[in-house]
Amino acid sequence: MAKAKTTVFFCKECGYESSKWMGQCPACREWNTMVEEPAGKKEPLQQAFSGGRNRQALRPVKLEEVSIEEQDRISTGYQELDRVLGSGIVAGSLVLAGGDPGIGKSTLLLQVCRNLAGTGHKVLYISGEESLKQIKLRANRIGPVLGELFFLCETNLDLIGQAIQEVKPEAVVIDSIQTMYREDISSAPGSVSQVRESTNILLQIAKGMEITVFIIGHVTKEGVVAGPRVLEHMVDTVLYFEGERNASYRILRAVKNRFGSTNEIGVFEMQEQGLQEVKNPSEYLLSGRPEEASGAVVACSIEGTRPILLEVQALVAQTSFGMARRTAAGTDYNRVNLLMAVLEKRCHYEMSRYDAYVNIAGGVRMNEPALDLAIVLALVSSLKDRPVNPKCIIFGEVGLSGEVRAVSLAEQRVHEAAKLGFESCILPQVCMGKMKQVDGIALYGVRNVREAIGLI
Ligand code: TYD
Ligand code: MG
Repeated sequence: MAKAKTTVFFCKECGYESSKWMGQCPACREWNTMVEEPAGKKEPLQQAFSGGRNRQALRPVKLEEVSIEEQDRISTGYQELDRVLGSGIVAGSLVLAGGDPGIGKSTLLLQVCRNLAGTGHKVLYISGEESLKQIKLRANRIGPVLGELFFLCETNLDLIGQAIQEVKPEAVVIDSIQTMYREDISSAPGSVSQVRESTNILLQIAKGMEITVFIIGHVTKEGVVAGPRVLEHMVDTVLYFEGERNASYRILRAVKNRFGSTNEIGVFEMQEQGLQEVKNPSEYLLSGRPEEASGAVVACSIEGTRPILLEVQALVAQTSFGMARRTAAGTDYNRVNLLMAVLEKRCHYEMSRYDAYVNIAGGVRMNEPALDLAIVLALVSSLKDRPVNPKCIIFGEVGLSGEVRAVSLAEQRVHEAAKLGFESCILPQVCMGKMKQVDGIALYGVRNVREAIGLI
């Protein structure tokens, strides 16, 4: 009799399953990603968590018959988070929150649980990483917990499923999917099949019982949620919590959202008493700006629907070796090289003789083309060692022939600048046509980089 196969191979990246090892995954074409795992027995999807659903619900309906009630959305108590989720959480949705270790995922979700419990919702927080004592210590830093917030330290998903059915909460937090396991899958927690099957159970719980489930996921060195990509396909919303380790604020970004836009960001600051919302990130990012320093320019970027002012810094110094060094922190390195080539070719600055370092102050990452003009002017300002007027903001996309091109939502950017007390603005000439005069701020339209350099 043929021996039954006891192991299978999974691709760590995409979850592709194969009976033999391969150097390259045929599905996602990544090399060296196949890992061996014990073969679990395949079971039909469990119906245990289908809650109130019955056979009769299996009737195709027209869209008119589906009612969308506004109260389906629950506020998390944080405007910054609500905006990223698309005005609150949706009942029965599965939200994956990823981020580096120590960035504040557990803290954020504990605070959300506390807010939900405070507004009369029943919440269950399940931790597979920390003991109840540790959670209590954290909760003490955040503040008193009122209402129906329950905690459970468990990693066995079958028991967790039972607990959820007993408690019947409206929202559940799973603190790290990588620690959860199912008994019927023989591989170790955190492995591809465990993560995938565990998420599958949580998906059934979320959809069957109309419970919002937040899943915390770790991020690998490459910056993706550990475990297979399939995890991202299974959930409704994927949030990334990012930030510099040594800077205190954190940015929450949606990379996938079935219930809203993915352009929005939420800004938080890690303080002694947990995470606090930063309602006005511009003010925050511009605080501590040096006055009258060359190479520093204020630009305006749009994140989602929100204009954010930030400082672009450049340092241009004579190179001591034959090869000029270039670095870009917080923005695209290749874009900086391209802009320097434009300066060299179109404005005849000998950039190749200089090292150049470009930085977006505050540790944020912004890749919008509207920052181009600010980067160019910061480079020129540093090269000539002449400060730019600190009350001037600059935005515009720079093309390869040195022309300054239109950017979206120019008026909103100008309004934000006026609100923060800026007195002048350099912007693309083409945006001037549609622009109404804004009180207290002088507008200078430019057609190309040379005109802009002439202005500063
Ligand atoms: P944590 O939520 O445990 O991170 P994660 O779950 O993403 O691994 O947050 C860890 C960091 O946050 C830790 O280094 C301590 C810091 N912290 C504060 O600064 N203030 C606070 O009130 C709390 C609760 C944590
Ligand atoms: Mg944690």
